[in-house]
Amino acid sequence: MRVTVVGAGNAGSTCAQIIAGKNIVQEVVLIDIKEGISEGKSLDLWQTAPINYYDTRLVGCTNDYSKTADSEVVVITSGITRKPGMSRDDLISTNVGIVKSVTENVLKYSPKAKIIIVTNPLDVMTYAAYIISKKPKNEIMGMAGILDTARYRSFLAETLDVSPRDIQALLMGGHGDTMVPLPRYTTVSGIPITELIDEEKLNSILERTKIGGNELVNIMGTSAWYAPGSAAAQMVEAIVLDQKRIFPCCVKLEGEYGLNNVFVGVPVKLGKNGVEQIIEVALNKEEQQLLVDSANSVKHVMDVLDGMNIL
Ligand code: NAI
Ligand code: 2OP
Repeated sequence: MRVTVVGAGNAGSTCAQIIAGKNIVQEVVLIDIKEGISEGKSLDLWQTAPINYYDTRLVGCTNDYSKTADSEVVVITSGITRKPGMSRDDLISTNVGIVKSVTENVLKYSPKAKIIIVTNPLDVMTYAAYIISKKPKNEIMGMAGILDTARYRSFLAETLDVSPRDIQALLMGGHGDTMVPLPRYTTVSGIPITELIDEEKLNSILERTKIGGNELVNIMGTSAWYAPGSAAAQMVEAIVLDQKRIFPCCVKLEGEYGLNNVFVGVPVKLGKNGVEQIIEVALNKEEQQLLVDSANSVKHVMDVLDGMNIL
């Protein structure tokens, strides 16, 4: 089985490394537009196989999509990143052109691939890939919820001094400041989070989570890659191993949560067919309103993209 990662930059090469390390597919193809970068990084990664004990072959190529043929899953990370002071939405015009040409090239050789978008602005790029690819909606999804939830879980683990593995959490909405963390659906080994932390501390963690991407852009001058690459690799694993795992992912909603024709993060079941089910959890009035507000802010950027007449 083959998986392709488009974009051999920070997020893409980390994702390829983590997929290979999981030893779950025969081949990971890393492809980029920049001459030599994919070939070099793939060779370097392949040389970690004897140390890290995996068999997955790594193939690097510059713009040669024939090497990606028959990929089961394609992760698209190609695009520019945020610099301090920029929002994810500021990336729209450059990145939509990149996502368009990449999606078209991918589909020529892997028409049945499940596509995971990482490029920002995430929800709107997932929408763009859906329109460009004309694929069924279960085969196009965006990675953000696993990352945002991981940030939330890591902050909670640190504050409570517990293992991050024991923290289960759910977060919905767009990948931006309007995301909707859900403390009512957060537990530590089944214990409701509200029994373990006071309101003030919890609120400050929720606020930090919403600007978690920004925190890293401000520290590093570019966006994060270890947690994003790991999150995308976890989605790949769920699909190629048909794990039926439940993760928050960006998908097209058609009536779920009362929302229509918008791409936002909601809990879904991931298996060999991609998004196999959208799970509707009960939201109270306040949570539902926050989700609607978040979806509206994504819809606004989708409309901006529509107005550009690129798709
Ligand atoms: P990066 O700059 O390290 O890598 C981007 C790579 O894309 C570069 O190697 C570049 O040559 C390549 N590229 C550009 N145009 C291409 C094309 N037409 N075909 C193939 N490759 C092309 O950036 P990084 O950190 O890897 O981030 C990539 C994207 O992912 C950005 O848009 C970033 O905002 C987004 N991102 C999204 C996250 C999420 O949660 N959804 C998390 C982290 C990053
Ligand atoms: C992040 O949240 C930049 O979207 C990216 O790290």
